[in-house]
Amino acid sequence: MATVEHQHREEALAEEQGHRRRDFINIAAVSFAGVGAATVVLPLINQMNPAADTLALATTEVDLSQVQPGQSIKTIFRKQPLFVRHLTPQEVAAANAVPAGELRDPQSLTERTKEGKPQWLVTMGVCTHLGCVPLGAAEGESKGEFGGYFCPCHGSHYDTAGRIRKGPAPTNLVVPDYVFRSDTVIEVGAAA
Ligand code: FES
Repeated sequence: MATVEHQHREEALAEEQGHRRRDFINIAAVSFAGVGAATVVLPLINQMNPAADTLALATTEVDLSQVQPGQSIKTIFRKQPLFVRHLTPQEVAAANAVPAGELRDPQSLTERTKEGKPQWLVTMGVCTHLGCVPLGAAEGESKGEFGGYFCPCHGSHYDTAGRIRKGPAPTNLVVPDYVFRSDTVIEVGAAA
């Protein structure tokens, strides 16, 4: 009898210790989450919410001097990808050969580039369907069926003027505001 009681006491003790241990683990996990949240969330909030006026005023200078005909560069403008492309004479001709009126989003290359600079195509690198980053700006990437950009998410093809030619995207790649500060430097975000 004494042995059975002793055994019961030991079991009760073990159970209580188990509870305490679990409580400790739970408290430790909560404290850790608390510390993690305090140290990680704050910088994220700061990064993700720049003041609207700061964002609206931000401009980006892009040096074009190293971009040869047929090459593109991918950079960032207001936290989004930006494509700057130096079109070859053939790519300019291909864009001009298409009657703009027949396009889903009718625009000529002239309307999408600056006067006297039809070889410089500056667009956001954001597909107008659901916002993926199209391929075609980096060397070796698919440029799609029309030689411009190709969005692999749902198969949108853009031509050498960044105009939508095939696939679900409703409109052309967006041309942001920008100005030529010199022959080889543009400032994106600056109004003419
Ligand atoms: Fe580009 Fe859908 S996001 S085709």
